[in-house]
Amino acid sequence: MTSAGYAPGVGEASSRLLAFPAGFVWGAATAAYQIEGAVAEGGRTPSIWDTFCRVPGKVFEGQNGDVACDHYHRYRDDVALMASLGLGAYRFSTSWPRIIPTGSGPVNREGLDFYSRLVDELLEHGIAPVLTLYHWDLPQELEDAGGWTNRDTAYRFEEYVDVMADALGDRVRTWATLNEPWCSAYLGYACGVHAPGRSDAADSLSAVHHLMLAHGLGARALREKLPADAQLSITLNPVSPRPASDSDADRDAVRRIDGIGNRVFLEPMFRGHYPADVIADTAKLTDWSFVLDGDLPIIAAPIDILGINYYQRAIIAAYDPDDGRGGSRAEGPWVGCESAQFLPVPAPVTTMGWPVDASGLYDVLMRLHRDYPGVPVYITENGAAYDDEVVDDAIHDADRVDYLHSHIVATYRAIADGADVRGYFAWSLLDNFEWGFGYSQRFGIVHVDYETQQRRWKDSAHWYHEVITKNAVQDGE
Ligand code: FCB
Repeated sequence: MTSAGYAPGVGEASSRLLAFPAGFVWGAATAAYQIEGAVAEGGRTPSIWDTFCRVPGKVFEGQNGDVACDHYHRYRDDVALMASLGLGAYRFSTSWPRIIPTGSGPVNREGLDFYSRLVDELLEHGIAPVLTLYHWDLPQELEDAGGWTNRDTAYRFEEYVDVMADALGDRVRTWATLNEPWCSAYLGYACGVHAPGRSDAADSLSAVHHLMLAHGLGARALREKLPADAQLSITLNPVSPRPASDSDADRDAVRRIDGIGNRVFLEPMFRGHYPADVIADTAKLTDWSFVLDGDLPIIAAPIDILGINYYQRAIIAAYDPDDGRGGSRAEGPWVGCESAQFLPVPAPVTTMGWPVDASGLYDVLMRLHRDYPGVPVYITENGAAYDDEVVDDAIHDADRVDYLHSHIVATYRAIADGADVRGYFAWSLLDNFEWGFGYSQRFGIVHVDYETQQRRWKDSAHWYHEVITKNAVQDGE
């Protein structure tokens, strides 16, 4: 790891320091399949991502997570890197097929030992472990039995959670059940761009429900096993849909996108029911009979914190193929939203093509504060992909610094306006396997040379280190 070549002052254009509340948590995030590698070591069996990567045309250049950042072997160095960055917390996920290979068989001690060593290493460095139980790597055998369209998968998840709570409950205080069930359900089952690559809109809705049931069952298992001060959560990726106009048609388009993207997850958790309008919008696809008596109270059991991943904002209008506005119809993952379209957002884009507009993060935080108050929020992912170049051992990623800066300022503003935001995790600690985009998209604040596995601080890492040290960010606007 090197830290040469930092250009001091990047992103610090102006004067006023915005100080965050004492105790605000600064962290960075990763996920098991994206960084660990060692897919056939330590008793791990294939997940749906191992399989999906081998389907021609699904992942950029046929790449996969076989080696990734080799974190499985390098975790000690990576934790030392986190410590030198000054991270107060590290958000990672555990790999279900390392713990219960095949999804329903006996527990694999070697898998548990890996995460136990990782947690000990973090604690020895004063870094709080923030553990996500499911970041998309479903054991393949469970997919073969129907995956998230099979209710039984939720009960298998409960068993796995139980095992993890027994193994790490004495040392990990902050737990999340799922990462972005939106992606698991719709990208995985409605439009097939994520594993398991299925394309059936009705299936994606039963996947939504079984994921939420898994969340509820998992949260219940955690609550029973963990000490009273444990913090239980889930991470969602709320869409931030701004209506293109005040017209009834544009507002209805926003209602649909908000329903299938946000409220279908938030309402059962916080209000104990699925939104009536979403059920009506999707009536042609399903009668929602996969929701059984007694499921909703399980899903609605209280959680302690809510994780939010935010990357981009959306501007929504009623779909009109002839309006010449260059929008794209809400199809694919946007089940039941075909009467809506996404308009181009007037903002620069990252190499993912995602528009950079931090006001969307502010809006998400204020909306949660308004409509679902009383649950502290952590931003569990936020970051950007750019074409980083190593020049003289340094990476001058000014765009990423700007991105992080504007979003941290937006977070500060939301806190100042009353939102209860307790922490921020940069996505990602390391460049890593970016799902369908393989290694073509670099999100890390630390650069990874995949040939040598060398880690190098980007300017954004230096910049973030300063933010953490000061618990403050320059206003800069
Ligand atoms: C989120 C995922 C994360 C990463 C970022 C860029 O949706 O949770 O694993 O891929 O996007």
